[in-house]
Amino acid sequence: MTPIVLIGRFAPGEEQLWLDALRRAMPEERLLSCDEVDDPAAVELAIVANPDPDVVRRFPALRWVQSLWAGVERLVAEPAFDRLPIVRMVDPELARIMAEAVLAWTLYLHRNMPAYLAQQRERQWRQLPYVAPAARRIGILGLGVLGQAAAGALLAAGFPVQGWRRAARAAGARDSASAAADRVAVFSGDEELSAMVRQTDLLICLLPLTQHTRHRIDARLLRLLPRGASLINFGRGPVVHTPSLVDALDSGHLAHAVLDVFDEEPLPTTNALWHHPGVTVLPHISADTDPQTASRIVAGNVRHWRATGRIPPAVDRQRGY
Ligand SMILES: NC(=O)c1ccc[n+]([C@@H]2O[C@H](COP(=O)([O-])OP(=O)(O)OC[C@H]3O[C@@H](n4cnc5c(N)ncnc54)[C@H](OP(=O)(O)O)[C@@H]3O)[C@@H](O)[C@H]2O)c1
Repeated sequence: MTPIVLIGRFAPGEEQLWLDALRRAMPEERLLSCDEVDDPAAVELAIVANPDPDVVRRFPALRWVQSLWAGVERLVAEPAFDRLPIVRMVDPELARIMAEAVLAWTLYLHRNMPAYLAQQRERQWRQLPYVAPAARRIGILGLGVLGQAAAGALLAAGFPVQGWRRAARAAGARDSASAAADRVAVFSGDEELSAMVRQTDLLICLLPLTQHTRHRIDARLLRLLPRGASLINFGRGPVVHTPSLVDALDSGHLAHAVLDVFDEEPLPTTNALWHHPGVTVLPHISADTDPQTASRIVAGNVRHWRATGRIPPAVDRQRGY
């Protein structure tokens, strides 16, 4: 069997952690770090995590790449991957972790934690009105693997959920990923997006970054939100037009934004978002890939490919995700 190479830019110690987890999950394979490969022309599969394109080019016989991350916008935009099918990470455990994060930060906003934190700093004893979850309308942008998992968690907590996706759902069709899908009002297309946003108190972004979603959350869209609404962005930073978001917060139209993803990461220490009273900054932690479960997903894909010769479903380059 041809060896498999792991290519990535890892934090110290992280590469070894991934090598160990992947080797445990598929002991029948020969998984090598870049430095261990003596014949790059023999390698047909690369497992990648934010790889250096020049390193990828060293492997001329690659047939496909498996990403360890769910978001693949950099791989799709990178010429080194032009001819290669890119298989992204789809892991139920990742979806569970994201759904947990969405619920946690929804409750943070729902129960006014930013306001109570600010009041405590001022030693203010003031009770804000309680709002029941049933009265807090949530709109999710992106009803894919992660959006559907998030919708399930929010519905279970009593929030009414509506969601926006690219493709209209055929009447009667069900999403295999979610039994909750039938209880989510589904919108698609620009006009329906405006309609949804007008009746959304908390907008949650779980969109991938593509040429169509870049700056999709712009000044116009933010204006359509009811006054006092909030935003959670757990998708990708550039989906939001940040200057428009800051304007909406400064004018009081938006109450608060929880941001886990940014145009530039790590968020530069000089960035004004760090100090904005209406912004909660998170260091891209809403849903990290779990090496153990993700390695088992990769092993399943590899075994299927070895057994059938078929490459797992790849990213659609036309759609960009
Ligand atoms: N912050 C973090 O820690 C973290 C962790 C993991 C992932 N992420 C981000 O989350 C994103 C979503 O992941 P996923 O696994 O849920 O992806 P996915 O299964 O591919 O779902 C993407 C969703 O976005 C919708 N969409 C895409 N382009 C659209 C457009 N132009 N207009 C309307 N809807 C559009 C898709 O519509 P259809 O259903 O019609 O295809 C789908 O519902 C990833 O791409 C990544 O950027 C963030």
